Amino acid sequence: MNILLLGSGGREHALAWKIAQSSLLSKLFITPGNAGTATIGTNLSISVNDFDGIKKAVLEYAIDVVIVGPEDPLVHGIVDFFESDALLNKIPVIGPNLIAAQMEGSKDFSKQFMMRHDIPTARYKSVTSNTLSEGIAFLKALKAPYVLKADGLASGKGVLIINSLDEAIEELKQMLEGKFGAAGNTVVIEEFLAGIECSVFIITDGEHYKLLPEAKDYKRIGEGDKGLNTGGMGAVSPVSFADKVFMQKVIDRIIEPTMAGLKSENIVYKGFLFFGLIKVENEPYVIEYNARMGDPETEVVMLRLQSDLLELIQGVINGNLNEKEIIIDPRHAVTVMLVSGGYPEAYEKGKVITGFDKISGSYVFHAGTTFANDKVVTNGGRVMAISSYGTSKDEACRQSLANAEQITFEGNYFRRDIGFDL
Ligand code: AMP
Ligand code: GLY
Repeated sequence: MNILLLGSGGREHALAWKIAQSSLLSKLFITPGNAGTATIGTNLSISVNDFDGIKKAVLEYAIDVVIVGPEDPLVHGIVDFFESDALLNKIPVIGPNLIAAQMEGSKDFSKQFMMRHDIPTARYKSVTSNTLSEGIAFLKALKAPYVLKADGLASGKGVLIINSLDEAIEELKQMLEGKFGAAGNTVVIEEFLAGIECSVFIITDGEHYKLLPEAKDYKRIGEGDKGLNTGGMGAVSPVSFADKVFMQKVIDRIIEPTMAGLKSENIVYKGFLFFGLIKVENEPYVIEYNARMGDPETEVVMLRLQSDLLELIQGVINGNLNEKEIIIDPRHAVTVMLVSGGYPEAYEKGKVITGFDKISGSYVFHAGTTFANDKVVTNGGRVMAISSYGTSKDEACRQSLANAEQITFEGNYFRRDIGFDL
């Protein structure tokens, strides 16, 4: 199989690394990729939202399957674009179609879906500028802190958690006035749930699904989960509190009703589905659905997935995922993200990265890297994810940290406490 993988982050390097191990692979292309994916496949320089450019590449390189890393092309309808094109409609794109991707693309859509199918989630109200007064009344009836979410995709910045009621009302008005652009034309106001989060993933052919290893990511920039939100500073798998009893509740109350709900509404969902969960007094609630794998969770999930990923992808394509086997490495995996100085606020790019030759016993998944004059340089806020196995999460974390120390670039920063709360 010739594969085209879309994306350029640590998630995509980890997926590429896993795909490259498959006996079913002929050639692997990644677009746009990064300096890491360039070592295991061929990078193309087409943006993930340039569907015409992707079409040209698919035809030119005789691509058999397209695998989508990030949500953007899914929410913009890349699956439907392929299905409606006479030259592309035999080429499967792994990911949900436009409607199914609304599970991530619209918070209001996913909240309504959960209500219809009795899937546990925070109480909420969706408001627009026409219903602002109802929104304010709903906020007044809630207790602090207040959760405001832009309905649409807002580059991970569309969720605000606010302590004061006055500030929440002010923010609600600003969101409806366009603070997050059209993504905030509808705002979902939610009850705040206090608990511990975890990410659960399935791969599905629309009919059957397989559970992948769960993970927990660490979003704040500072140790002890302090400071600004980032795209993710590290991740661990397995997650100690996601034990048999908890996971059975997740299956019975969340995954199965979600699959049944999608089917009953004739929404054909294929690809990866990510359940962002929170455990409140031992009960799982859905914080959000994502139409893709998580980042940096994929950097630990792929380490623990022993099954051939392209075998599973074939199951998605052929609708016989039920016949495939998921084999999971019992070891722990921890990834530590190296980030640029200043991130998640302003940071500089183009810093030369050295020390790759000193890495031993860890996997280096590149995120924001590229080449400049034959050198690997930083090209984003999150630069690379150092990922390791261990017989315990602490051992895996120590191993990732020891190797993280070996990589140098100006301004390099990473958290040393990934997994601290488990
Ligand atoms: P989301 O983009 O929906 O994942 O939200 C970003 C983060 O905000 C989540 O990972 C949670 O940490 C937090 N969050 C979102 N909704 C809630 C909620 N209802 N209660 C508590 N925390 C929340
Ligand atoms: N790590 C969370 C996400 O990928 O959305």
